[in-house]
Amino acid sequence: MEQRNIPAHVAIIMDGNGRWAKKRGLPRIFGHRAGVQAVEKIVSHASNLGVKYLSLFAFSTENWLRPEDEVSGLMTLLSEFVDKKFSDIIEKNIKFIVSGRLMELPDEPRSKVLKLIETSKNNTGMVLNLALNYGGRKEIVDAINKILDSGIKEIDEKIFSDFLYSPEVPDIDLLIRTSGEMRISNFMLWRLAYAELYFTKTLWPDFDEKEFDKAILDYQKRDRRFGMTDEQIKRGKI
Ligand code: IPE
Ligand code: IPE
Ligand code: MG
Repeated sequence: MEQRNIPAHVAIIMDGNGRWAKKRGLPRIFGHRAGVQAVEKIVSHASNLGVKYLSLFAFSTENWLRPEDEVSGLMTLLSEFVDKKFSDIIEKNIKFIVSGRLMELPDEPRSKVLKLIETSKNNTGMVLNLALNYGGRKEIVDAINKILDSGIKEIDEKIFSDFLYSPEVPDIDLLIRTSGEMRISNFMLWRLAYAELYFTKTLWPDFDEKEFDKAILDYQKRDRRFGMTDEQIKRGKI
């Protein structure tokens, strides 16, 4: 793996927890629990590799439609994750942020998450961006409403992106989706514009450091042109 061509922003649609559990004859929540372990591995690995931004799709605005016990199980896992990883995240100099409508989350996970955001806000290492109660269209609509409130009369792409959730987070370089589904499922629509897409059949709880490296290696073989020609790219137009 080339150290100098590590994607700055890697985003992951962590999918397949339910199927992982089903294959084992277990309730879906066991798949989510195993999925949290994969999160722990990948956060630490990505930070060691020098990834600057890691966005993880943890809970979508559509996931509220799932059975009540699954939703509450996921919220409990979120609280436990924050409790368990709090000191580790601070120690690794990781800045923890959330994209999504955090205020709609139940009190307990919300207050734990807010405390970790506050405590890690001056960290200078990898930014861990957890997409929680996140919907790509809602993000765009929320941005437009904020723009209308601000009184701004004319916008361009730069101004618009300043109104998205977590404006410090740049465009996505590499999007990974596990579990074999080849769709975006309303994830980071704006920032995906020129992302390289990588799909693997591996279910999220089975996704590990080796699988992550495979995705990075694949990314490093891609030719990104951003609408230009190879020659222009070689001459260093970007
Ligand atoms: C991803 O796994 C985790 C969340 C959406 C919270 P799923 O729960 O979607 O697993 P599958 O797709 O049903 O296998
Ligand atoms: C996307 O997965 C959301 C997360 C990974 C949190 P889903 O499992 O909800 O997506 P669909 O329903 O298969 O498109
Ligand atoms: Mg799924």
